[in-house]
Amino acid sequence: MDKLRIEGGTPLHGEVRISGAKNAALPLLCAGLLTAEPLTLRNVPRLNDVATMRSLLAQMGVVVEVSGDRVALGAARIDWPLAPYELVKTMRASILALGPLLARCGEARVSLPGGCAIGLRPVDQHVKGLTAMGAEIDLEHGYINAKGRLTGTKFVFDMVTVTGTENLLMAATLARGTTVLENAAREPEIVDLARCLTAMGARITGAGTDRISIEGVPELHGAAHSIMPDRIETGTYLVAIAASGGKATVRGADVTSLDSVLTKLAEAGATVAIDGDAIVVARQGALRGVSVRTAPHPGFPTDMQAQFMALAARAEGTAVITETIFENRMMHVQELVRLGADIEVEGGTALVRGVAKLTGAHVMATDLRASACLVIAGLVAEGETVIDRIYHLDRGYERMEEKLSGLSARVTRVR
Ligand code: EPU
Repeated sequence: MDKLRIEGGTPLHGEVRISGAKNAALPLLCAGLLTAEPLTLRNVPRLNDVATMRSLLAQMGVVVEVSGDRVALGAARIDWPLAPYELVKTMRASILALGPLLARCGEARVSLPGGCAIGLRPVDQHVKGLTAMGAEIDLEHGYINAKGRLTGTKFVFDMVTVTGTENLLMAATLARGTTVLENAAREPEIVDLARCLTAMGARITGAGTDRISIEGVPELHGAAHSIMPDRIETGTYLVAIAASGGKATVRGADVTSLDSVLTKLAEAGATVAIDGDAIVVARQGALRGVSVRTAPHPGFPTDMQAQFMALAARAEGTAVITETIFENRMMHVQELVRLGADIEVEGGTALVRGVAKLTGAHVMATDLRASACLVIAGLVAEGETVIDRIYHLDRGYERMEEKLSGLSARVTRVR
């Protein structure tokens, strides 16, 4: 199992280029199931989760061609509308195949994901929504078995769910009549998905608001789509640069998707200058720990909570960090404490008292964003930090050690 070795304590300088967004790429790959014609995606990040999704599509009978950051999907035939447990257990986003398979084939069999490290993460809203659209669904032997022809309806989500919204949005494009999704998620990745679906011939209004309306069409056609930049990868590098006390440029970013993160960075004492798709971030003065409370977009993203905790750990003052989306997304705390952080957790809230220095240690990554948090902490800690289990990192950050080296960090992968 690979590890990451970081020699910390030096400010980051230079440039880093952002890849396509993981959480946009995964639903967009599933959108390829909705049409018999080719769908070509560009700016696809080279990540383990993307490779898993490609394997999932290929075993259904989809022809998948990869060339650099371009992925061409040909779903002229779908032989097995099935997402088996073996793949779903390694990547929950496989549930995104459910809506498109059902809409296109009239049947689907997708494994229930089960719990995961950061929380229970049920998929009841996906199931309820498709049932409201007329699907017959039964849960048997750990699988969701769905069949039927979908009909447009009005569905109000009980809570804001990103992949739930994406699943129903995709399914509704081929349903009979109009579907209205209320209390829909407003994440930028949903807007990106809607843009691609529209290019495929779907009729969608309101993506990016909490009310999305979709007028079903008999079929969708092929299209080419370039995936939006990864806002969480962008935010992760911005925090790393600010925490290290350096100055560097993050290129290829989608600045419009980062409001809450940029606001918090400025509060922490960083200066942020924007020039088109480039963000120059610098921090010379004191670093202040900032309190954050996670919320659905446009609130502060849960996927940036751990990184801001690493920043607060080595900053001046006390920060209150509250996680409201997932029940168990504080597993990085114990590892930060191994680096010398002073953090108390009660329920979903962490009280982070900034310390004057962190010191390198051997730590273990527990999930994707927790890994990013430990990388940032390792970069600001004195001495050597070794992070174990970085397969979590490889699920969602493309070539992170190379990109960090481009920012003059001393990082090596130990195989
Ligand atoms: N929820 C339910 N029932 C459902 C669906 C969700 O109770 O049917 C609950 C969840 O348990 C959670 C909350 O609703 O408490 C929100 O979960 P959501 O469904 O929005 O999460 P997700 O769609 O499974 C996506 C991202 C996550 C990101 C969350 C929140 C993808 C592939 N994943 O997950 O990304 O944290 O939205 O923004 O888009 C990551 O990249 O590290 C990551 C975990």
